[in-house]
Amino acid sequence: MSLVFSGIQPTGAIHVGNFAGAISNWVRLQQEMDCIFCIVDYHSLTVAYEASEMPRRVMDAALDILACGIDPERSRLFVQSHVPEHTELAWVLSCVAPMGELNRMTQFKEKSERVDWVNLGLYAYPVLQAADILLYKADVVPVGEDQVQHLEVTREIARRFNHQFGDTFPEPKPRLTRAARIMTLSDPTRKMSKSIEGSAIMLTDSEESIRKQIKRAVTDVGPPLEPGTMSPGVANLYSLLEVFAPAEVYARFKGDYERGELRYKDLKESLTEEMLRVLAPIRERRRELAARPGEVCRILKESAADLRARARMTMGEVREKLGLTACQ
Ligand code: AQP
Repeated sequence: MSLVFSGIQPTGAIHVGNFAGAISNWVRLQQEMDCIFCIVDYHSLTVAYEASEMPRRVMDAALDILACGIDPERSRLFVQSHVPEHTELAWVLSCVAPMGELNRMTQFKEKSERVDWVNLGLYAYPVLQAADILLYKADVVPVGEDQVQHLEVTREIARRFNHQFGDTFPEPKPRLTRAARIMTLSDPTRKMSKSIEGSAIMLTDSEESIRKQIKRAVTDVGPPLEPGTMSPGVANLYSLLEVFAPAEVYARFKGDYERGELRYKDLKESLTEEMLRVLAPIRERRRELAARPGEVCRILKESAADLRARARMTMGEVREKLGLTACQ
């Protein structure tokens, strides 16, 4: 059976881009595969944050993920720092990771432009991500398009390690959703992001705020496009509609577009209603779970205890392969 690993940073409330590109995929995959989902708090140390807010952020991420439909009976959901072997393996992998590849990472270039000073962790982010995945020997990684480049680094690191020290890690493959890159509604040239203020519709946003954000979404601006070419803003609304609406609603709007009969107002209104319809039960489940934080902690801790045993086994094998065995 394939093993799935994916993670999300506790850098802010989860948005409809995370839902479209990652979590909706996680919920589907857990029906057919063994799945491990991780709240990657070590990764989130790479950008400025308030230490006193971290516990709440981790809890918020857990609530969002469970409310979206991750079933703790089927899947493991845990916090990265509860399994310290992630950072131990990251060091080992940093000794086989090619800097030439890391220098090309788009996320590093984009994020380093947004900070006052650049830390080493931000640069080494893909190496820790490789450790997250390889520690469990996962072979499928559901991600949004922004993470595909990082996953290629994981594959390269696995190849190099296997070549140097003998077959140890599988080369994991990305699993994209169709809506793998949701853009900011007010600026469809930028990816929707938790850490860019005002760029995202959060799963917990009020109904009124969601209505307002979709109503104001940019559709056609800039120079006229070739006939039959969708503007980035309209294409983004269609991507969201594909995630949130039933197939027949999406097909109807596609037909309207192809016949040149689309009215943006109708598209936005339908998208709003479909999004609110999907989010309503998620928000309700979230409220229920939030009233039982002890139960959420139990889920996180039990998963971590179970995964730590697997992580220790992989690290035992890795130490052996590396020759770190003196006096054992
Ligand atoms: N805009 C997006 N469209 C589709 N998928 C997306 N993902 C993120 N943004 C979009 C996918 O969500 C998963 C979790 O992402 P992450 O928390 O690891 O960090 P990220 O990719 O950097 O997401 P954000 O929202 O942009 O967070 P910040 O602002 O903290 O950097 C990943 O699978 C990602 O592909």
